[in-house]
Amino acid sequence: MENLAYALVQLVHNFGAVAVTAAPIVALRPADASIGDRTLAGLVVVAWALQIASGISFGLTSLHYYGVLPDLGATAQAALVVKVSCAVGGLALSALLLARGARWSARAHDRSWRTLAGLGATALAGAAVLRWFS
Ligand code: HEM
Repeated sequence: MENLAYALVQLVHNFGAVAVTAAPIVALRPADASIGDRTLAGLVVVAWALQIASGISFGLTSLHYYGVLPDLGATAQAALVVKVSCAVGGLALSALLLARGARWSARAHDRSWRTLAGLGATALAGAAVLRWFS
């Protein structure tokens, strides 16, 4: 049961990681996208929220099965802070883009999508460090 719980959390977390990183890249290439900017923004909001929920669920699963949270060293803690910061920033920016983007210039849209792609890539780099230093 424990392995199944971790696998299900990881399943959501992995697909969320793909969505938060790939969707902004798709949005930056409108000629290739058959999906609208607003739909992509909605998808990214949901994906960042799922990343946060599934990230917390990793901790809750450990708490449930072992009674404690994983003991992280300084490097792993720093990587986790990077990931959490990216997730909070990504959720806030994508929510703003979804709510107010209709009134923004094309330049502001472009900048937002670039920032969101950067936040996704930075969080993925943090995930690699967290994985091997925890
Ligand atoms: C609140 C935010 C987040 C929390 C609390 C969190 C937490 C975690 C935890 C506890 C793990 C398991 C670590 C391990 O392998 O031992 C993990 C794995 C992972 N996370 Fe996150 N995460 C968050 C956000 C993100 C984001 C935004 C991304 C990518 C865009 C991401 C990508 C990954 C990936 C790819 C793994 C699997 C690493 C591997 O096993 O190779 N996470 N995360």
